[in-house]
Amino acid sequence: MDWKNAQVAERYKPGEAMTGPFAAHLIDLSGLSTADGSSDLVVLDNACGTGIVTLQLHEHVPAAARARMSVVSADFSPPMVESVAARITENGWAGATAQVVDAQSLSATLPTAHFTHVLTNFAACHLPDPRAGLREAFRVLRPGGTMAFTAWKAVGWYPHTARALALIPGAPALPPFADFVGSMVTATASGEEEKRRWVDPAFFEARVREAGFAEVETVLRENVTRTAGAAEHAKAYAEITKRMLSTVWGDRVDEFGAQFEGALERAVREEVGDGEVVLKWEAYCVIAKKA
Ligand SMILES: C[S@@+](CC[C@H](N)C(=O)[O-])C[C@H]1O[C@@H](n2cnc3c(N)ncnc32)[C@H](O)[C@@H]1O
Repeated sequence: MDWKNAQVAERYKPGEAMTGPFAAHLIDLSGLSTADGSSDLVVLDNACGTGIVTLQLHEHVPAAARARMSVVSADFSPPMVESVAARITENGWAGATAQVVDAQSLSATLPTAHFTHVLTNFAACHLPDPRAGLREAFRVLRPGGTMAFTAWKAVGWYPHTARALALIPGAPALPPFADFVGSMVTATASGEEEKRRWVDPAFFEARVREAGFAEVETVLRENVTRTAGAAEHAKAYAEITKRMLSTVWGDRVDEFGAQFEGALERAVREEVGDGEVVLKWEAYCVIAKKA
């Protein structure tokens, strides 16, 4: 996925229907939805995309705590940051600012030991160097602060995509999910095989502890999304799916990409007929403390 493409924010925004419910879980599991306003909240929405965590913070943090809350919405993609800055202005979120920041070098731009909460929704385990991301989250967090991130266990679009590709002559087969996640990781400490382990909660919990965190806890959450029918589903998912999978296949996507939306519609219709399309999404939510 080319996260810095000029159209990325507009293309990505519908994806909030998938990531948003889990952003709400992160906020809840971090204790922010029950914060009582007795202390300042200084929150980093790390790798914020179009700002769904920032939005959910403004919806779920109780008013008394919100009055003492500041949020930095940070992403390395300038178009994403522009889009979240516009959202902040439109909504009049007084304590929020948007900034271009690389999650692998947060402390190069942001103050160390500063944030009470660092929340990373669906970006921590597939940075090129996820270990650096965890170390940097630790650095910018103040002692006693909370770090929380989500990592997909299963994405709803995967099974239909596998069936759609099988309908296109010459298209490559969909790789196992661990290979897809691993295709986004470039830095390893123990060889190539390690890339596939960023879907394994035991593995990433150990990396979280290694980065200095204590009281690491992982919980599984799930959500369903619904689309009216096969055609609507194919329209909504074909483009984003091809872009996501370009990290696995590079330019090979161009060889079969033109046929993908039609194949996806057929694959889905074979399963649900004229009915609605229900997708199941599962994600690990990891919560950790800086002692
Ligand atoms: C799957 S999206 C998640 C966006 C948002 N947090 C959400 O839940 O919808 C991943 C985000 O990570 C950002 N990203 C990728 N690599 C990054 C990096 N090195 N530093 C900061 N952001 C990064 C992308 O620009 C994109 O906005």
